[in-house]
Amino acid sequence: DGFTAKNLFRQGYSYTYDDVIFLPGYIGFPVDKVDLSTKLTSNISLSIPCVSSPMDTVTESSMARAMAVLGGIGIIHSNCSSSEQAAYIRAAKAGHFPILSNPVFRSPSDRIYSLDDFESSPCILVTQSGDSNSELMGYVSQLHWMELTDGDKEAPLIDYMVKSADAIAWNSDLSEIVQYFNEDGSKIDFVPVAGKSGEIVDMVTRDDVERLRGYPRIVGGGTLGADGEWMVGASIGTRESDKERLEHLVKAGANVVVLDSSQGNSIYQIEMIKYIKKTYPELDLIGGNVVTMSQADNLIKAGVDGLRIGMGSGSICTTQEVCAVGRGQATAVYKVSSIASQSKVPIIADGGISNSGHIVKALTLGASSVMMGSFLAGSSEAPGAYMVQNGQRVKRYRGMGSLEAMTKGSDARYLGDTTKLKIAQGVVGAVADKGSVLKFVPYTMQAVKQGFQDLGACSVQDAHELLASTLRLEVRTGAAQVEGGVHGLVSFEKKPF
Ligand code: XMP
Repeated sequence: DGFTAKNLFRQGYSYTYDDVIFLPGYIGFPVDKVDLSTKLTSNISLSIPCVSSPMDTVTESSMARAMAVLGGIGIIHSNCSSSEQAAYIRAAKAGHFPILSNPVFRSPSDRIYSLDDFESSPCILVTQSGDSNSELMGYVSQLHWMELTDGDKEAPLIDYMVKSADAIAWNSDLSEIVQYFNEDGSKIDFVPVAGKSGEIVDMVTRDDVERLRGYPRIVGGGTLGADGEWMVGASIGTRESDKERLEHLVKAGANVVVLDSSQGNSIYQIEMIKYIKKTYPELDLIGGNVVTMSQADNLIKAGVDGLRIGMGSGSICTTQEVCAVGRGQATAVYKVSSIASQSKVPIIADGGISNSGHIVKALTLGASSVMMGSFLAGSSEAPGAYMVQNGQRVKRYRGMGSLEAMTKGSDARYLGDTTKLKIAQGVVGAVADKGSVLKFVPYTMQAVKQGFQDLGACSVQDAHELLASTLRLEVRTGAAQVEGGVHGLVSFEKKPF
């Protein structure tokens, strides 16, 4: 009944996730017995198999913090200066609270000219340096400022700020923060967060604490490093200047580095792998992207700790059309995992994830985690503001090989030369508002657990073992794919949870 993966994938077709379907197995355990903990690399464990993509419309500080809180990890993009990228890493790691606030800082001699100066923050924090690098001296809330007379509003902050050095420690957990707010019955609805050396790194608002209460409870624990800070990854290219960038990132505390290339099997990447392994033997390194066994073999031999799989399967990618190279993602994941598993190098299925079923397919076909762009880009944690397009709230999402992104520098991913003609391998678009990842990722993980239960797999490791033994698959015809989706209705409401 059905085909083994080995037989199905040796017929010469390039299958995508939607092309294949698993035949159900035997359920001998409740869904809560399914454990999705996994490995990102040989040395880094995650409690959920989710990685956010190093794209400038997906992963900066807020996304990286939230992914780590959920038990996954975020990879900060490199389409910015190395100091900006390092600052994103520091901000993501600076506090334990899942939501970043980006507070507004001023020095005591500064003045507030209008409510716009608050930049939608409930307060302005006053520090000696006027930024986040020093200790708190006081604060001015919007309410307080509005109640001042016109004359008083013209005075420097030192004259009317509330003098307070009250702050919570960077690693305070939610219950400690709730206790802080409960103890203080006054009007203050925010509390600054102090970093390891007492400097102010962030702020927590009462509203954020309330918001978190409405989200599913996160089980499994976040992705913390040995120093108690969230683990955060960062991408770099393979140019000479990336060696200097890497130095900044390592100083900022990057736990893992991704060599970001659309075709990773190159002399540039192999030399970079050797350089990084020699210079930073403790640093985890993910190579890629690859889609074939021989590409993977080269990077594994060069010394990577993890491999990123996918070429042209991303929702914004045009590589397969522009360059005529790539592979269907289901085939790529299966083929590469069959060689990577021999050397125990975990693989990350990158791109092409648009629903929980695709995650079940990627993990069962041999991946240890999935990397997502479009699936996360409409969340409140993704960079950028929401816009309204045709009556729908959307966020911009662009390929790193789009002309727009490459103009900012990401052409290194495509080994482009700034002095030569630029050829786009991606597009600029928009994705629908999905709310917070802190809410929809836990629902997605529950759906993945149900898929695993249907297959009879208790864990990612279990799914890989099933693939090599009893699991059977079939290819879905075009009609079977239509039948497998919603069909025949005049209308329906699409509410995933
Ligand atoms: P999804 O499907 O999750 O894909 O949106 C995200 C992945 O797509 C890759 N990527 C690109 N590939 N041109 C490409 O061919 C591009 O402009 C581009 N930008 C991103 C990348 O691997 C990412 O993780």
